[in-house]
Amino acid sequence: MNASRTFRAPGRVNLIGEHTDYNLGFVLPIALNLATYIETSPSPDGRLRLFSEQHRDHRAFVISEIPSLPRSKHWTDYVIGVARELMARGIRIEPLSLNIRSEVPEGSGLSSSAALEVASAFALLQGRQLERLEIARLCQRAEIDFVGMPCGIMDQFVSVFGREHAAIEIDCRSLEYKTVEIPEDVAIIAVNSMVKHELGASAYRNRVEECAIAVDAIRRRFPGVHSLRDANPAQVEKTPMPRLVMRRARHVVTENARVELFVHAAARGDLSRMGELFVESHRSMQHDYEITCDEVDFLVDSAVGIRGCYGARMTGGGFGGCTVNLVAPEETDRFQDSIRSLYKERFRIDPAIFRCVPAAGAAEIRNPALSGAGLSSDAHEK
Ligand code: GLA
Repeated sequence: MNASRTFRAPGRVNLIGEHTDYNLGFVLPIALNLATYIETSPSPDGRLRLFSEQHRDHRAFVISEIPSLPRSKHWTDYVIGVARELMARGIRIEPLSLNIRSEVPEGSGLSSSAALEVASAFALLQGRQLERLEIARLCQRAEIDFVGMPCGIMDQFVSVFGREHAAIEIDCRSLEYKTVEIPEDVAIIAVNSMVKHELGASAYRNRVEECAIAVDAIRRRFPGVHSLRDANPAQVEKTPMPRLVMRRARHVVTENARVELFVHAAARGDLSRMGELFVESHRSMQHDYEITCDEVDFLVDSAVGIRGCYGARMTGGGFGGCTVNLVAPEETDRFQDSIRSLYKERFRIDPAIFRCVPAAGAAEIRNPALSGAGLSSDAHEK
């Protein structure tokens, strides 16, 4: 009998609906076939032991001290933040060793942090039941309150609730979701710019604040508006507010509408319209929300000129990371070769490129060897 267990939580690619989640709007992510795996075993010394294969780094924590630990600005904050949230709910943290391995590239806009948080929650729970929505929310709280990033709910939600073969459309106000089938005759290709510009976290915080300023202004004129989710483009135009704040609000309001339009286009199998909406979303992020950068703009501009590409946009928080591209399946090899050589020629960077396959949300893995977790000595466990 082997006492080790393995838990998996996926990264995500957001198809459309960027920076709409903390404005209580809609998002349309897919959980990815790239995931974080945590193998747990009893800790030999009564402490919580964390080992990251990626960082080749080992840390140990006295469990009773976890609630009073300060943030350390270290990768362990994601795990400790989740442990604190669980403890605050009265859930006991057992003395475990956590061996963490992630396939989700950091800084790529594919939510490596949410994958780590959600995998940590499942690992620390050790199969004890907690509502899946509660898991997503406590992981989000860990990131906001402990890691210090004022994020929305999308990444943790989709890491928990992701589905095979489908995207999920999340209503970030009601926290209800529905699955959305993506037409079979299109491949979803992520192209990693391999850059992540440093202003990310502070710029994210600024955007959150600018949206709050916009809501205050709009509400003075239209009292029914409590978040940008409630506002329409005409209300944004008619409200006096600083030009910059107006552009931020316009991105969110139009992006929200694009999610619905995209879902309808996907239901009709209208690939050209889906592609157009991708490009509109990117332009809105580029010019109104101002969260793109030269590298991802170049990737999008190049992609839309390649045969078989219906549309492209940056995905995730911004300032680098990945673009997501809708490509005719028979053209994917040529698309990859073309975009790679154009990007290499322009920036001297070799982009990582991969096909995104919608995968299931977080769970314990019963047979890590077969599932590709590739961690474990308990390959024979049923
Ligand atoms: C980051 C945040 C999410 C979301 C996206 C932008 O990934 O964690 O909550 O706001 O940026 O859509």
